[in-house]
Amino acid sequence: MSKAFYVTTPIYYVNDAPHIGHAYTTVAGDVLTRWHRQRQESVFYLTGTDEHGTKVERTARENNMEPQDWCDRLVENSWKPVLETIEAANDDFIRTTSTRHRKGVRKFWETVRDNGHVYEADFEGPYCVGCEEFKRPGDLVDGKCPIHDRPVEMLHESNYFFRLAQFQDALLEHYERHPTAVEPKSAYNEVVSFIKSGLEDISMSRSSVGWGVSLPWDDKQVVYVWFDALLNYITAIGYGEDDEKLASIWPANVHLVGKDILRFHAVYWPAMLMAAGLPLPDKVFAHGWLLVGGEKMSKSKLTGISPESITDDFGADAFRYYFLRAIQFGQDGSFSWEDMAARYQAELANGLGNLASRATAMVVRYRDGSLPAPGDYTNADLALQELLVACAEQADAAMGRLDFSGGILAIKEFVDAVNVYVTEQQPWVLAKDEATAQRLDTVLYTICESLRAIAVLYHPVMPAATSLIWDSLGAAGELGQQSVLTVSQWGQLAPGSVVTKSESLFPRLDTK
Ligand code: MSP
Repeated sequence: MSKAFYVTTPIYYVNDAPHIGHAYTTVAGDVLTRWHRQRQESVFYLTGTDEHGTKVERTARENNMEPQDWCDRLVENSWKPVLETIEAANDDFIRTTSTRHRKGVRKFWETVRDNGHVYEADFEGPYCVGCEEFKRPGDLVDGKCPIHDRPVEMLHESNYFFRLAQFQDALLEHYERHPTAVEPKSAYNEVVSFIKSGLEDISMSRSSVGWGVSLPWDDKQVVYVWFDALLNYITAIGYGEDDEKLASIWPANVHLVGKDILRFHAVYWPAMLMAAGLPLPDKVFAHGWLLVGGEKMSKSKLTGISPESITDDFGADAFRYYFLRAIQFGQDGSFSWEDMAARYQAELANGLGNLASRATAMVVRYRDGSLPAPGDYTNADLALQELLVACAEQADAAMGRLDFSGGILAIKEFVDAVNVYVTEQQPWVLAKDEATAQRLDTVLYTICESLRAIAVLYHPVMPAATSLIWDSLGAAGELGQQSVLTVSQWGQLAPGSVVTKSESLFPRLDTK
């Protein structure tokens, strides 16, 4: 069996509930994996929660709870439900407090230590609890962490160190040979220049923290939270337990991360994997931030917007569509309710929704809900068929580059062209004259067949609305199993299919 196309999200800290910045990453991964599933590939999509470390422990204590109880509550009440809110179809959910993860972490570090990459030493340095990271003096602005805008803490500990510096040359060589292993290009350049600036060995354990995975060789220390968390990507797929499963999924094809956690994924993580003798991921893709007032949206700054506050009004499909359509993946983007509402109305309600309801209503009205067989095609019909071939190819190429907005635009171009076709062909005029009955058949078939292709292509982005379109076309088979690679082969809808009037896919917004 071929290796699965493996995509991961970061695992989220459970110190707070999810906001749309977190949901953004998960949606991107979900669209990417659904797209690959519809390329008939075997796929594995992982997400989960990061539950150890000072930040989570302190939050639990502030809420007068034991850390484990706190984590259980947040995972069950907030983090797992949000996956349903945004219609994510992940294959697994990894928690760092689970036995499988904890066992894998201990096994990994035991191996790396046996391989000679861990030693004991004293350390003192500024630590940002928000980042869960020791900072270099050059990272600080006015003595504060620039990401969290709050003072760092001076920590002095006797710790175990990971020989990161030793991997400097191997990492540089890896990135020279694999120029797309980090994307976008700006992120690649940042990583390479960070490595060139000189890597220092890094503390891989903490003695002052209790909430974590204890070291197999020293139970007074726990594994530093990042060196515990990164391992989720392999502990979830059998590391230390099921070598066959691991080999059928690892290495990851894409690790999706926000740009704030790039260094961990593109420097520390590959070095850890080298130290353990495991293959490196194909790609780390760093996306931008959702901004509020020009700053990274965050719960701690009280600028977090919950995903439900958007999906309650707009629905999950529109949520998924909007963030990937409006923001170039890899760039920062500002969220605004006005822009969201405007695109919802123009592109989804008036564009796609209107097309689906007009098309199906006409077949019901003029042909009693039975899809007519097409007659001879005119140049206008053939032009639409050719456009579909081009748009489907463009969409596939863009999705392959993680250019989600480009992929959506290619599909949207086809939707717009079909709407123009309907207006130009005027089926309502053809319906008035028996002499043009066959032309009406061809036009109705062309519109519905186009809609079939749109449902297949948009399914990874908008699973619910496209399923409704699929059902109302009376199309055969499971929509999620339709190939995006053969979608433009014309004539897949069987004449005689039972077409029913599509429900309103994107209901009018309450203007209040
Ligand atoms: N637990 C670590 C990740 C460990 S992965 C081995 C962590 N967690 S986090 O909850 O703070 O952030 C998770 C992800 O959410 C990060 O990729 C981060 O970039 C992303 N986002 C958090 N706020 C965001 C925005 N405002 N906008 C976009 N993404 C944001 O870091």
